[in-house]
Amino acid sequence: MVQDPSKEGLLQNGRFDDHGHDSNSDLDTTEFLEQDPSAAEPKRLPANTRGRWSIRRLFAGRSRCCIGILFFVLGLWVVIGAGGTFVYKKFQEEPPYGQSPPWYPTPLGGIADTWAESYKKAAKMVSRMTLAEKVNVTTGTGWQMGLAVGTNAPAVYVGFPQLQLQDGPLGIRKADNITAFPAGITVGATWNRQLMYARGKAHAIEAHDKGVNVLLGPCVGPLGRMPAAGRNWEGFGADPYLQGIAGAETVKGIQSEGIMATIKHFVANEQEHFRQPWEWGLPHAISSNVDDRTLHELYAWPFGDAVKAGVAAVMCSYNQVNNSYGCGNSKLLNGILKDELGFQGFVMSDWLAQRSGVGTALAGLDMTMPGDGTLWANGDSLWGPHLTKAVLNGSVPLERLNDMVTRIVAAWYQLGQDDETKFPREPPNFSSWTDERMGLMAAGSPSPQELVEVNKFVNVQANHSIIAREVAAEGTVLLKNEDLLPISRQGLVDAKLRRRRDNIQRATGYRHTGKFKIGIFGEDAGPGKGPNACDDRSCNQGTLGSGWGSGAVEFPYLVTPIKALRSQLDKSSVELHEYLTNKPPKTSSDQAVLESLELCIVFVNADSGEGFAKWEDVSGDRPDLNLQKGGDDLIIDIAAKCGSGHGDVAVVIHAVGPVLVEKWIDLPNVKAVLHANLPGEESGNALADVLFGDVNPSGHLPYTIGKSLDDYGKGAQVLYRPNGVVPQQDFSEGLYIDYRYFDKFGIDPRFEFGFGLSYTTFNLSNLQVKPLKTKSPLPAPRPDPATKPPTYSADIPSESEALFPAGFRALEKYIYPYLKTVDDIVSDPYPYPDGYDTVQPLSGAGGAEGGNPDLWEPYVSVSVEVRNVGGRAGAVVPQVYLGYPAHEAVDFPVRVLRGFDKVYLRPGEKRTLEFELTRRDLSYWDVEKQNWVMVTEGKYLFEVGLSSRDLHVSGTW
Ligand code: BGC
Ligand code: BGC
Repeated sequence: MVQDPSKEGLLQNGRFDDHGHDSNSDLDTTEFLEQDPSAAEPKRLPANTRGRWSIRRLFAGRSRCCIGILFFVLGLWVVIGAGGTFVYKKFQEEPPYGQSPPWYPTPLGGIADTWAESYKKAAKMVSRMTLAEKVNVTTGTGWQMGLAVGTNAPAVYVGFPQLQLQDGPLGIRKADNITAFPAGITVGATWNRQLMYARGKAHAIEAHDKGVNVLLGPCVGPLGRMPAAGRNWEGFGADPYLQGIAGAETVKGIQSEGIMATIKHFVANEQEHFRQPWEWGLPHAISSNVDDRTLHELYAWPFGDAVKAGVAAVMCSYNQVNNSYGCGNSKLLNGILKDELGFQGFVMSDWLAQRSGVGTALAGLDMTMPGDGTLWANGDSLWGPHLTKAVLNGSVPLERLNDMVTRIVAAWYQLGQDDETKFPREPPNFSSWTDERMGLMAAGSPSPQELVEVNKFVNVQANHSIIAREVAAEGTVLLKNEDLLPISRQGLVDAKLRRRRDNIQRATGYRHTGKFKIGIFGEDAGPGKGPNACDDRSCNQGTLGSGWGSGAVEFPYLVTPIKALRSQLDKSSVELHEYLTNKPPKTSSDQAVLESLELCIVFVNADSGEGFAKWEDVSGDRPDLNLQKGGDDLIIDIAAKCGSGHGDVAVVIHAVGPVLVEKWIDLPNVKAVLHANLPGEESGNALADVLFGDVNPSGHLPYTIGKSLDDYGKGAQVLYRPNGVVPQQDFSEGLYIDYRYFDKFGIDPRFEFGFGLSYTTFNLSNLQVKPLKTKSPLPAPRPDPATKPPTYSADIPSESEALFPAGFRALEKYIYPYLKTVDDIVSDPYPYPDGYDTVQPLSGAGGAEGGNPDLWEPYVSVSVEVRNVGGRAGAVVPQVYLGYPAHEAVDFPVRVLRGFDKVYLRPGEKRTLEFELTRRDLSYWDVEKQNWVMVTEGKYLFEVGLSSRDLHVSGTW
């Protein structure tokens, strides 16, 4: 029999908890409904008055002033609640898209051949679990109740361990001796599948060696509807196809090491403002109102790729979608994810994104994280004991609980985590909550506990800095280059230098002599106060290596640009001057130096992050697309003064997304611009690789850089002020985001999606279209399930399984599955949501993991020849864009990305690349047919080029 050490420790160190839980024992979980925002309201009262609270208890022993304040608050609450109801009602009257339709019951996991063995094993284990154990597996133990950012509880007697869940998408958060990889957006900019996979794999090796079971990444939502949105940088770029490939490769890389990946945040979690209740002062989260077709073709698309890749977990999002919370939205979780996409793993809530108890269970949530209820760290879960009770009183069908647990246990088997030689049943060897060696196992509990060794400072970095550096270098996009880059470590040399000096002499009469003079400008080139100066990296100072929030890590080190350049530039031929500030040099000696410079490299940046933290006027989302900290002024000033306006200027940008460059991009001496995205710990080394030409730039923009924010359209504007008690954000631009918008309305971007220069030149030719299958409107009929989901006894477990074991020593605030009494359990009829009993037709797009297998069949292949016709070796990224046949009833974007690859070619070398397009790639989502439909009349257009607007060759089918 396996004992879980962490749990044992807690039992021994804890003590009886005689307050905090009993006052809630009259709470009837059947009160929590799906969809109706007002259903969450009782939970806004202080924890000890939740549930069926009595007015007398509320006011007992309070002073008059206190009562006054309470009445005021209550009054306000009633008004706000009424507003919420109004908004809710308004949307109820607006079918078909104003409200999320019901989809019940949750499809059972266990239909896919790819998971058959794991479900078999899981069924055996789950059938032996007690009710309390099952609840344990589904419910987090509470905020800071383990060493990782999320822990559920074990099923000790059947040998299922506590799972350790840790952020995030770019490295192991809140840990030491780990790698700070480049962020998702930089990975997207590489357009390199092998690197996507390799980074995921290295990330997972570190997770494993730190004792983590589940990584809370990759992130493919936000997608990037709004270029200023705070967390776009955690994902891979503003296109569903690119996100899908990058997400799936990352999942495969992570899971190749036996670590469960979590694809997040499902879905339409596009901005930080109002993303969750109370964080922004409002009682409810924003509602992203998305129509069915847009949901399929844009926002849910990359999740489909991740499911097809076998992802173990999906994290549902904070926001509401069509006025139903993401983690309680039956259409999304039951309908789209579990039926249509055939997802076999488990759905976990984002941290506190669960807003109702029974409602979320019915809607398809399988695990609540971090376990606490509607308030942080209150220890009063919406599940835990309430789920126990809801199963006993019949409001949550036992079958649903069994399915939740089976999905989690099956995922664990699927990744081979039952192998104790590879996954020893131990807590992580680091604590997220202290940097000291000694700490608490349940830091979030006020109960007295022993200090134990929590941080073992295990170095898990191996040689992952190599991958980090490669991703950072390949994710650097060369936006402009007028015969300046690369430079050598001796600066400009030989003919190039002579030519430059002759030109200057002709223009100014002045001849530079001696060493080549370089100036480095900007705080973003230097260390500032060190990379970890602010919690969760939530400030912009020093060079920018990542955005902030749960998607950031503690940098083990950060090679700053100045450090790399200082050490690599050859001092015997280069004179280096450093001005690591955004204030232009003022003194006369500085002015004299400035005038003598031949090359000025100016570093600028723009930062953003997760909405729980704020830096200056960046409340998660950026207020605009401008460079921050006076970046524009710095560039303009230096350009004017560098060599008295005749020096060459190279600009290096570190940014979370697009920035406006209009103020200086056309200045005649701004000769080169490198967009290095968010490079992670190897920043300076990777930049030097590109500047000095060791790496020929091959990054391409994973988004459009427009000339103004307005150019992206109305839909691209972050909603900064609430427009209702439940802020409403209508995605009325539909499919037209980023380049799809620019193309549709003929707007010239500054740099289009997919753009990126090289130090060499490539030529594309000879496009061939080869049909592989005949066109037909609908995919083959949905296949029957390959396997049958496990079945279990339908008998409601004995109430005795739900009671605190005798003599149990509970930690305060720690979430247990047990009840103090079962005397109050009554099986009243449960008010199930409207539509609960309507049998939903199974989706024609479903039937297997990833959906109907026919959707993944290649139907046509497009091949092109690509040749390096320049003088340097380098990697090229041919991109395939598809134009749909004209259709009288359906509107299509001008073109959509449907293929890309990256190949390395020596000068003169030629390769033929082949791209296979699947049925899904060629289809649109038909809202009437509720399926993916291929257009059989007219011709598909395939264009291949080096950006979305630099299209070299085309063909039709
Ligand atoms: C974020 C998630 C993250 C979780 C755990 C949430 O606030 O939205 O992305 O995984 O916290 O830290
Ligand atoms: C925590 C994060 C969490 C966030 C959610 C913060 O206080 O540090 O882990 O993701 O809250 O809002």
